[in-house]
Amino acid sequence: MGETVTLTIDGRETQAKVGETLLQVARRMGAAIPTLCYHPAVSPYGACRLCLVEVKVRGRTRLVTSCCYPIREGLEAFTQSDRVLKARRGVMRLLLARAPESPELRKLAESMGITDPQLPSVTKGKRDCILCGLCVSVCNEVMGAAAISFSYRGVERVVTAPFEQSSPACLACGACAAVCPVGSVVLEYDGETVTVEPFGNRRPALRCRECGALIGGKGMGERVAQQLSGRLTQAVDLCAECKRKISAQAICQAGTAVVAWPALPEGVTER
Ligand code: SF4
Ligand code: FES
Repeated sequence: MGETVTLTIDGRETQAKVGETLLQVARRMGAAIPTLCYHPAVSPYGACRLCLVEVKVRGRTRLVTSCCYPIREGLEAFTQSDRVLKARRGVMRLLLARAPESPELRKLAESMGITDPQLPSVTKGKRDCILCGLCVSVCNEVMGAAAISFSYRGVERVVTAPFEQSSPACLACGACAAVCPVGSVVLEYDGETVTVEPFGNRRPALRCRECGALIGGKGMGERVAQQLSGRLTQAVDLCAECKRKISAQAICQAGTAVVAWPALPEGVTER
C-alpha cells in the first residue's frame, strides 16, 4: 500500500492514498458530487466545473474542481456547503444554456433543484455538446485513435474530425458515443457504412458473420482482433446474441463449460 494521508471531508476524518483525487475520496465516503466531464477511464480534464467543492487551505476557503484536485495531509473539504451548492447551480445553468434540449442534462439539473422553464440557448441551432472533452479523451487515451479533437475558440469551439473531414483514423468503435454525457454523439448505419455523428466520420460497417446484424465499424473489429489471440478472435465479428448461441452450443457439445468456442474454421490457424 502506498503512502497515506489523513484528511477531513464534511467533518468526517478519513485516510486516503497519495495520488487520489478529492472526488474519488469524497465519493467513497458517500458524498453526492455531480460530474459530467469525469470518467475513471481517462485523465481528469476539469472542463465542466460541476464537481466544485470548498477546500480550506491555511485558514482560507476556496472553490476547486474536485475531479482534478489531489488530496494532501490535513486537507479539509466541504462538499455540500451553501456556497458549493449555489456555485454548482450557477455552473449548471451555464451548461444548460449550451445544451438546453439535452434530457440528460435537464434531469441532472432537476436533481440539483433547477426547475426553471426552458433556458435560452447561446448556441442556437447547434448540437447539444457541452464541450466536456470526454469523447476526445476516450478516442485518444483509450482507443489510441485520436480521430477527433477540439477546434476553434470561444463560442465557436466544437469537437470535430481533423479539417472537418471524415477521419481515416476513426475506428467507428462507438466509445465516444458511449461516454458522451449528453447523448450528443451517435452512430448512424447506412447499408455498408457507419457514420459517427456529429463528427462525420464515415467508415465501413462490421456485420455479424452469422446473422448479418450491424455491430460496429470494421476498423474496430480489426483493432480488437490484433489485441486478442487464438480462438477469441473468432468472436470479433459476432453480435452479442450469436456469441451467446455459439458459446452455448459449444458448451452443450463438449458437456463442459470449459470450451467457449468451437473448432477453428478450415484455413484459420491459432496464434
Ligand atoms: S460530444 Fe459529448 S463527449 Fe464530446 S465534448 Fe461534447 S458533450 Fe462531451
Ligand atoms: S467533473 Fe470535475 S470539472 Fe467536470
